[in-house]
Amino acid sequence: MDYKQKLYIRTFGCQMNVNDSEYITGQLIKLGYSITEDIFKSNLILLNTCCVRAKVEQKIYSLIGKIKKIKKNNPDMILGICGCMAQKEKENIFERAPHVDFIFSPPQINNLENIINTVKHVNKKYISCGNTSEFSLKYLPIKRKSKVSAWLQIMRGCNNYCSYCVVPYTRGLEQSRGVSEILSEVNDLAKNKYKEIFLLGQNVNSYGNDLSQSVTFSKLLELLNDINGIERIRFTTSHPKDFSFDLIKTIKNCDKVCNHIHLPIQSGSSKILKMMNRKYDIDYYRKIIKEIRNNIDNIAITTDVMVGFPGETENDFMDTLNAFKEIEFDEAYTFIYSDRENAIASLLPDQVPLELKKGRLWKLIDLQKKISAKINKKLEGKTFEVLVDKKSKKHIENQFSGRTGTNKIVVFTSKQNLLGQLVKVKIIKSSAWTLYGELIG
Ligand code: SAH
Ligand code: SF4
Ligand code: F3S
Repeated sequence: MDYKQKLYIRTFGCQMNVNDSEYITGQLIKLGYSITEDIFKSNLILLNTCCVRAKVEQKIYSLIGKIKKIKKNNPDMILGICGCMAQKEKENIFERAPHVDFIFSPPQINNLENIINTVKHVNKKYISCGNTSEFSLKYLPIKRKSKVSAWLQIMRGCNNYCSYCVVPYTRGLEQSRGVSEILSEVNDLAKNKYKEIFLLGQNVNSYGNDLSQSVTFSKLLELLNDINGIERIRFTTSHPKDFSFDLIKTIKNCDKVCNHIHLPIQSGSSKILKMMNRKYDIDYYRKIIKEIRNNIDNIAITTDVMVGFPGETENDFMDTLNAFKEIEFDEAYTFIYSDRENAIASLLPDQVPLELKKGRLWKLIDLQKKISAKINKKLEGKTFEVLVDKKSKKHIENQFSGRTGTNKIVVFTSKQNLLGQLVKVKIIKSSAWTLYGELIG
């Protein structure tokens, strides 16, 4: 093994990509690489990319451009591009940036050892963008970032083809991971003292639809709830069209499944939802929220939303604002619609001008901030169980942060190192994004 090999990896995009980077890093460590945060000291640079919106893609191309200069001074350095943009752009990346040495798609992370060997010893302009027929991560080495909470992909890909979205083209169609493989991995995580598992999929509600074994997402949650040592189970993302009453019951009955649901609304206008091919209207979305809140006490609901979809009028946007006022989400991830060439919405007329989109975004962010602050204010004085997962980012002495079951960030101080523990914290102050508290007992 060559211990001088140093990997610099940068990840863009969703948790799925971050988890893929953990697999990539794990494999490269096994091949003798060590990790560096200093790009100038690396001999292998990997960019694990995203292309869900045009802006992130531009940012990545600009970073690739900057790396050209760094490579000039280090002729042995190799540069690889992986992730969703690699899958979407393929050879175009070599054309735009001839200093890129290799490209591979998300399913090819299982094949990384071969890819690296081919690039190093045979062919520097290498591209590997095939699909794998079977989705297994079973024997893949992994270097997890957290020692408290573990991400776990239970499925990949998406069959929904929302008209604005590039993901079905970059990640392929839905593929669920086998139940026994998931259970065995979670048992191992419990043995390694992980307290929380975070199940990942583009649409976890359709978990199992493609498996020969008859199993639903609810059933999987029930099985995972029985694993000793694991204290918390989280999941994302749920699609409203598949959010079943059965799942509501399971979340209520399984003590380890956290009281938090991320349920992207995307728009408050039924007309726009139809054009987005979301397969629900706003009344149906309201009905699910009501059902969830009637059945599960103290549930936090968060969402994704977009402004400026082609054809979105001022009235459609008002529908979104009104839905937000009525539903009162705990938090919302807000986006400006971005035209993606593979997605069919890019063919729609009536593009909304950028200035208008920006104005709508700020109005929505402003409204949501007030709602989040109001919800959090009501939590002052209450005590929550918090899983401590970080020492404070600001390096303030003795400051820790963790999350409530409802996924709120709680900051508090403690002289003892409480990383990885479940503790009780009383909330004394709040803001729209963070709670501040005192340790109890
Ligand atoms: N599978 C998940 C999330 C996919 S991407 C889901 O269905 O909810 C995360 C979020 O990015 C989406 O929920 C959507 O709000 C946003 N998004 C996706 N494509 C977009 C586009 N073309 N422009 C702007 N936002 C987009
Ligand atoms: Fe994209 Fe829609 Fe699939 Fe989510 S459900 S990944 S938004 S196509
Ligand atoms: Fe981006 Fe791919 Fe995730 S496009 S959001 S990294 S699935």
